[in-house]
Amino acid sequence: MAVKTVTVLGSTGSVGTQTLDLLQAAPDQYAVQALVGNRNAALLAEQARRFGARCAVVADPAAYPALVAALAGSGIATACGPQAVIDAAAMPADWTMAAIGGAAGLPATLAAIRRGVSVALANKEALVCAGDVMLRAVAEYGATLLPVDSEHNAIFQAMADGNRDRVDHITLTASGGPFRTATLEQMRAAPPEAALRHPVWSMGAKISIDSATMMNKGLEVIEAARLFGLDSARIKVLVHPQSVIHGMVHYSDGSVLAQLGSPDMRVPIAHTLAWPGRLATHAPRLDLAAIARLDFAEPDDVRFPALRLARAALEAGGGAPCILNAANEVAVAAYLQKHIGFLDIAAIVDHVMLEIGGQPADTLEAVNALDARARDAAARRCADSSRPAA
Ligand SMILES: NC(=O)c1ccc[n+]([C@@H]2O[C@H](COP(=O)([O-])OP(=O)(O)OC[C@H]3O[C@@H](n4cnc5c(N)ncnc54)[C@H](OP(=O)(O)O)[C@@H]3O)[C@@H](O)[C@H]2O)c1
Repeated sequence: MAVKTVTVLGSTGSVGTQTLDLLQAAPDQYAVQALVGNRNAALLAEQARRFGARCAVVADPAAYPALVAALAGSGIATACGPQAVIDAAAMPADWTMAAIGGAAGLPATLAAIRRGVSVALANKEALVCAGDVMLRAVAEYGATLLPVDSEHNAIFQAMADGNRDRVDHITLTASGGPFRTATLEQMRAAPPEAALRHPVWSMGAKISIDSATMMNKGLEVIEAARLFGLDSARIKVLVHPQSVIHGMVHYSDGSVLAQLGSPDMRVPIAHTLAWPGRLATHAPRLDLAAIARLDFAEPDDVRFPALRLARAALEAGGGAPCILNAANEVAVAAYLQKHIGFLDIAAIVDHVMLEIGGQPADTLEAVNALDARARDAAARRCADSSRPAA
């Protein structure tokens, strides 16, 4: 079997480290090209040595001296800064994991797409904020986007028979997060420590807060619209606390194809890594008899307004998803720093979307300008929200 060359963007994060776990279990099949992180130079250097990477890159120049020192004498090339991250993504590799968190991952994800190879997409925010730009690049350069999000990976697998024109609608499941049964009063008072305690998935901080507000599901509705060419009305969301069924495709003949599996990100990551083949993983096997029951419920729009806001952004089109995403990133960071409350996150996103309104986002320049404007507006709003009431 030919060795596949791979690059992992965001290798020090939750998705990145799980990707490397899979590579480590099949060392004869994969050769690591570039590994990219932001600040965690110690882990990045350890990973680069362990996998014999060709290069290791940190985005944050402040982390560069530590990276250089840790890789001295290894023969592994090092670099730092935003352009070095893009250059690493543009290096030849058969498969790239795009797992940088947030819109910050857009330039590198785009650079990987422009190589016209397989890009495993975890970085949903890039597709949300720059959908037109990314999908144009996929078509122009002949790249293949392989969805890593467990729900989208499920839909991708359930659509594998090719009858896309016979799809009536799809269902993305949602665990409901740590506040699935919480009251609004409990949510209002919730500290980040509580919101970070996800009942099912172990993930990075930003996506964990997005799961608690259900903005994550909102971003995923937009992601699904882009990936599968469906409008908002044909993308349903169902709360399913056990997270065993990840996604369902409802066909026009009444058949429903679902993908099931233990809630373990190594399963969808392995699917994208080996696609169109399959790779063995050590992820826990699904034991339906032990689980015994599966529950489902409609999402609650009142306690989780973020989902409604994301749908509104998708339906408005243009730059609305970019504004939604940027405002959310700023508000989540402010919440994690305890500058604003949990319920302020969605309120700030709502406010910024109303303040900026309809704007186009069909070029990278327009996306960047809108993203910056929305971040400014959200930062101002966070500052207002953090002021004690008079
Ligand atoms: N975690 C999951 O289970 C999961 C599931 C589905 C989708 N996703 C998506 O996958 C992406 C990553 O999520 P995560 O949970 O893995 O996040 P995470 O644990 O916070 O990791 C983020 C990674 O991106 C790196 N990074 C951050 N800013 C960067 C920049 N400007 N340039 C280069 N690298 C940068 C971080 O480096 P440092 O470590 O050095 O800071 C880290 O390697 C997100 O888009 C998320 O929505 C995650």
